[in-house]
Amino acid sequence: MIDNRDAEKTGNSARSGVKPGSEPSRRFCVAPMMDWTTPHFRYLARILSRRALLYTEMVTTGALIHGDAGRFLRYHPSEHPLALQLGGSDPKELAYCARLAEQHGYDEVNLNVGCPSDRVQNNLIGACLMAHPGRVAECVAAMRESTDLPVTVKHRIGINGRDSWDALCEFMETVAAAGCRTFIVHARIAILEGLSPKENREIPPLKYDWVYRLKARYPHLEIVINGGIRSLAECHEHLHHTDGVMVGREAYQNPWLLASVDPELFDDPAPMASRQDALRAMFPFIEAELARGVPLNHMTRHLLGLFHGVPGGRQFRRHLSEHAHRPGAGLATLETALAKVHTDGTRAPVSA
Ligand SMILES: Cc1cc2nc3c(=O)[nH]c(=O)nc-3n(C[C@H](O)[C@H](O)[C@H](O)COP(=O)(O)O)c2cc1C
Repeated sequence: MIDNRDAEKTGNSARSGVKPGSEPSRRFCVAPMMDWTTPHFRYLARILSRRALLYTEMVTTGALIHGDAGRFLRYHPSEHPLALQLGGSDPKELAYCARLAEQHGYDEVNLNVGCPSDRVQNNLIGACLMAHPGRVAECVAAMRESTDLPVTVKHRIGINGRDSWDALCEFMETVAAAGCRTFIVHARIAILEGLSPKENREIPPLKYDWVYRLKARYPHLEIVINGGIRSLAECHEHLHHTDGVMVGREAYQNPWLLASVDPELFDDPAPMASRQDALRAMFPFIEAELARGVPLNHMTRHLLGLFHGVPGGRQFRRHLSEHAHRPGAGLATLETALAKVHTDGTRAPVSA
């Protein structure tokens, strides 16, 4: 992992994914997901796709300013291209944190305007900001002034009480006027009272046509579509109408999907021929993390989806659930779990 104190000392650390000053490709993005897109999951994601743009979990400005920033910003150099997602609504604080993102070598800084949780609403963070386009614009302007990194916004198509097409266009135009040119649009509204965050990812209907209309109306803006995308076939379809796709839950629960991203969306060779190869490619990293004192189960919980739908996959998961938390659990535990998998059928037909 990068030691962030070094990054602070040296300024902009090595950015292996993207040349300094150039934009990362957002044709395929893995969504920011709290507790899921941790550095351990992202390491696996990067093994499976060299081209996907990865997003961190949301980090609030408060956590970075008052907490252990080094811990929150830590990542492995192989994770590039990597975007840091921030939660906040104070322009000065966001500007400071955007600068930190640059100093730590991130490739993009993204503002969360989509999270519906009560906890963050109380601090004017997340989807509630859709009701305050002027404030979002101030935040974006301040962030852009403090960093040369691309500043992007991830948002919903609306919130309850403010869910009209005109309100969405007002939001886009106000924020674009502050210099944001990339919008990642979760194609459903958020309902800020009465639904849990999980329900808010399932109950409000998806309106992909609204996102397509945004791209048609604002062709100069980069529009990345998000919400409910489960296969590369669906990605291909969306890419006829938008500049990029962002996949969340499916990428986490069935990460082997990522193994087809490079060949299918970028015409690049697939980095890994099999799920077993992918897991074994993680061994040196896992060993180094174990040596740092990270318990095996903190890592393996993010790898459980790798053998999703494969004969022996259930036994693989069961073995890890029963053994990875035990004292002394290590690579031998993983080897035993791997032996439970009969075959992975080499390349998976992920677009079905
Ligand atoms: C466990 C979990 C945590 C999430 N955390 C975040 C977050 O930190 N920031 C954010 O913008 N969205 C977050 N989301 C929403 C996802 O980024 C994405 O917008 C949503 O899941 C819809 O995409 P999907 O249908 O491909 O999963 C989270 C989703 C899940 C499932």
